[in-house]
Amino acid sequence: MGVTRKEASLLIRRRRVSCDDVAVRTAASHVDPATQVVRVNGEVVAWHARRVLMLHKPAGVVTANHDEHDRTVFDLVPPDLRRDLVAVGRLDKDATGLLLLTDDGALVHALTHPKRGIEKVYEVTYEGTLVDPEARFAAGVTLADGTRCRPASFEALAPGRCRLVVHEGRYHQVKRMIAACGGHVTELHRAAVGGLRLDPELAPGAVRPLTDAEIDALDGRD
Ligand code: URA
Repeated sequence: MGVTRKEASLLIRRRRVSCDDVAVRTAASHVDPATQVVRVNGEVVAWHARRVLMLHKPAGVVTANHDEHDRTVFDLVPPDLRRDLVAVGRLDKDATGLLLLTDDGALVHALTHPKRGIEKVYEVTYEGTLVDPEARFAAGVTLADGTRCRPASFEALAPGRCRLVVHEGRYHQVKRMIAACGGHVTELHRAAVGGLRLDPELAPGAVRPLTDAEIDALDGRD
């Protein structure tokens, strides 16, 4: 069973969680999974600490479980941390930046479900001259195939450089949004997801577990 902290708090408030057959009254209760039996709705829960990893994805690796030709993002994870990991969304082979990997299906759902509209921040280098990008991003860019994107934000950083904040994760979304405004993306870097910024100390290709505070910050988002 995978639940977010918010869902766990709700279950506790509804007295659905017990520890050694005593109802757990507060989310601050301390439980020792090695010696105590925890039940949710009467069912014993198997206990394992979930893993949530931050990867600084370098260019040239693919977000896929296996690939015939290329290294995958999972090849960058130490073998003892790899089991059951999935990527939270994806980054293109040529894209770089923050990619979360986890074995917690509820967290993947919470961060990728379109209804939640979790924000993603991209730093983009492009060629060409964009036509009225601020207004078009704010209104919702219409892609070449007619798809209307949700409102997003466009901030010019320098000629041919911008920062975008988008709230959805369509296939090649950023490249298609920039193309719809008359440009061509040459570099794409994801700087943040749901308020979590890529650790500037994390080198391209490196991976580390999130801290508890970072996980709480992600969990707490609607
Ligand atoms: N948008 C893209 O076009 N590519 C990515 O990898 C992520 C967002």
